[in-house]
Amino acid sequence: MNTKFKFVLVIIIFAGGWIMGSNNNVAPVITSSMGGASYSGGFQSVVSVSAVPQRTTKGAVIVVNPGDSIQAAVELAQPGDTIQVMPGTYSETVYIDKDDIHLLGVIQEGARATMDGLGKLNDAILYSGNNVVIENFRITQYKGNGIMGQAGNNLEIRNNVIVDTGIYGIFPQLGTNGLVEHNVVSGIEDAAIYIGMSDNIHVAYNEVFDSVAGIEIENSRHAVVEHNNAHNNTGGILAFVTPGLPIKTTEDVIIRNNFVLNNNTPNFGAPGSIVSGIPAGTGILVMAADDVIIEGNIISGNKTAGIIVNDHSFATTLTMDEESDPNSDRTMILDNVMLNNGYDTIPEVKAVALTELHTGLVDIVHVGSSNGSCIINRHRYRTIGIGGYAECDFTNTDSTESYLLAGGAEPRVIHSSERGEIAYMGVCTGCHSYRGRLIGPSVEIIQAMYAGNPEGLVEYINAPVKKRDNFPPMPAQNYLDAETQMAVATYMLALEK
Ligand code: HEC
Repeated sequence: MNTKFKFVLVIIIFAGGWIMGSNNNVAPVITSSMGGASYSGGFQSVVSVSAVPQRTTKGAVIVVNPGDSIQAAVELAQPGDTIQVMPGTYSETVYIDKDDIHLLGVIQEGARATMDGLGKLNDAILYSGNNVVIENFRITQYKGNGIMGQAGNNLEIRNNVIVDTGIYGIFPQLGTNGLVEHNVVSGIEDAAIYIGMSDNIHVAYNEVFDSVAGIEIENSRHAVVEHNNAHNNTGGILAFVTPGLPIKTTEDVIIRNNFVLNNNTPNFGAPGSIVSGIPAGTGILVMAADDVIIEGNIISGNKTAGIIVNDHSFATTLTMDEESDPNSDRTMILDNVMLNNGYDTIPEVKAVALTELHTGLVDIVHVGSSNGSCIINRHRYRTIGIGGYAECDFTNTDSTESYLLAGGAEPRVIHSSERGEIAYMGVCTGCHSYRGRLIGPSVEIIQAMYAGNPEGLVEYINAPVKKRDNFPPMPAQNYLDAETQMAVATYMLALEK
């Protein structure tokens, strides 16, 4: 044994004695989470989840049988109609650009309407309409998205099974008021469930696994994530800000009563993508998000840490955005069951641990500055970096059933002057940020290539060719009509930040 090693050992023994000594002398503050004060912050207009309008069939029912095209039925449908897709296999991309469409897979004795992209098609279901319901499908082998919303409000995505499908499994982008529940999503290269730039969202009773990110609340506000089972992903449940997107904040997120188990899958995200920076073994990650409450979860077996709260310092793949505050403020950690986390953590966590003479398991680690964060019953957990956390003055979130909007959101009406902006926000920002790489190259790089040439850009997005070896192929955006394509090209080229 060399002398340096002996020296370290002595410090650890000394520190261990000191910590044990202090525990013996000071009884921990034990706070009961049963009863007690309830969280009174957050989004105010709360409504019961059961009060979400269950859409009944108001219009016609259009039945799609195997061999028929689902898209043809969508073309026929009027707002209010239900499209019933019978069990069988359908290989197509469905694009719903109408309001009030209910796309319903019929499940018969376990057999589902299955959409199979055959490893060739980009997207299974895209919608831009308001009040769209998509349920009961099985979706597999697409390259881009399973179900992607592009600016539609009042969405309901329920009881779908999405397997080995591309970059995003369920991805409502730029939607207000939405329910994502009872879905089973696995084998996704980025996020199984990705709530992007959306408001008033409820994500409940989903199972997400074998993906890079299980559930991701990104640049979104007022979301409740509850009763989900996020297991065997690289990271289980994440609330964060991606810099360089038009909406700059993530706030008011309640993550409660979820299972967050064994999220140790090696990261297989596209190189350079934001999630490719998530360390395998991350249970819950809060990054640059404010007012996040973590309550009642069972968080177990995540080898890097159970809960990581940080600024953007772990995400080395990110380019900063001067308009996004990188700190995570007001993180509130209530009672959670935490077992066996951080048993094989990363050097970055070990380095912070060393400054506090902490060795062994890591339930909670906070890196970076933070204002107004709090915790109850901190003595239960192995923690690093939460010395600045106060004692929370509430113990539960019982008074907040959801952040959904009573009566729903106003349907989004897109005026022709906003077409370019909404298409940019609703479609392109899923993969392109202004500065820095997401799935695709930055807008700055695209502007340099296509300055003064929106026609050339339109030509590319209609039929993208593979250009960069280290990027995935870009999915064709040829479902957008010609006017929208030109509007988005012009908008992207004129964008200044
Ligand atoms: C699912 C992800 C994704 C979406 C959505 C997406 N892109 Fe891309 N885009 C990419 C990727 C990946 C590349 C790089 C492809 C390559 O180099 O082979 C790319 C490249 C580009 C390029 C560069 C073309 C060139 O000549 O090098 C342009 C322009 C572009 N995208 C425009 C858009 C526009 C406009 C939208 C929205 C309507 C959009 N993209 C939506 C992923 C996406």
